[in-house]
Amino acid sequence: MIIQFCGLSGAGKTTIARGTKKKLKELNIPVEVIDGDEYRTFICKDLGFSRADRMENIRRLAFIAHTFSAHDITAIICAINPYEEVRKEIRSQYGDVKTIFINCGMDELVKRDTKGLYKKALLPEGHADKVKNLTGVNDPFEAPADPALVLNTDKESVDESVNKLVAFIKKNR
Ligand code: ADX
Repeated sequence: MIIQFCGLSGAGKTTIARGTKKKLKELNIPVEVIDGDEYRTFICKDLGFSRADRMENIRRLAFIAHTFSAHDITAIICAINPYEEVRKEIRSQYGDVKTIFINCGMDELVKRDTKGLYKKALLPEGHADKVKNLTGVNDPFEAPADPALVLNTDKESVDESVNKLVAFIKKNR
């Protein structure tokens, strides 16, 4: 199975993926996390944050996920993955793809701001440090039309989200 996450920066994608990996390993269920942040320093290094580049990023991550899932390793694509068009494409290209929405309200994201990106994106127009294409602030994020699971990280604890995802994977793999 391939799990494609989608959700804004800071929503908890990496934290949930790591927690889930730990629990699944304890249960001897093989899993691989394919993390956008990590691959962007490596085979996706040439990609920026335009629509075309973000779509290409997801295509590459999905290709890698597929090589794992073909060997019965549950593969979690952990990226913002903001566009419905490419999510749909991945679902039709590979069998057994589940879309999971890691959802968190903007107020909470701005409060967390773990990477300091929201603060920079919310700077006034023309400020030298302003981030211009942050997803959810000044770049689009399309909520998934029909996700297989939604984890509301501003309403539930990391443990609750992880437990829901572990249960989902156990049931669907
Ligand atoms: S995706 O849109 O192509 O799916 P991906 O998940 O790989 O994005 O990368 C997002 C990460 O890049 C964020 O968590 C953040 O650390 C960093 N980043 C830097 N600039 C931006 C930006 N303008 N929009 C979103 N993420 C950004």
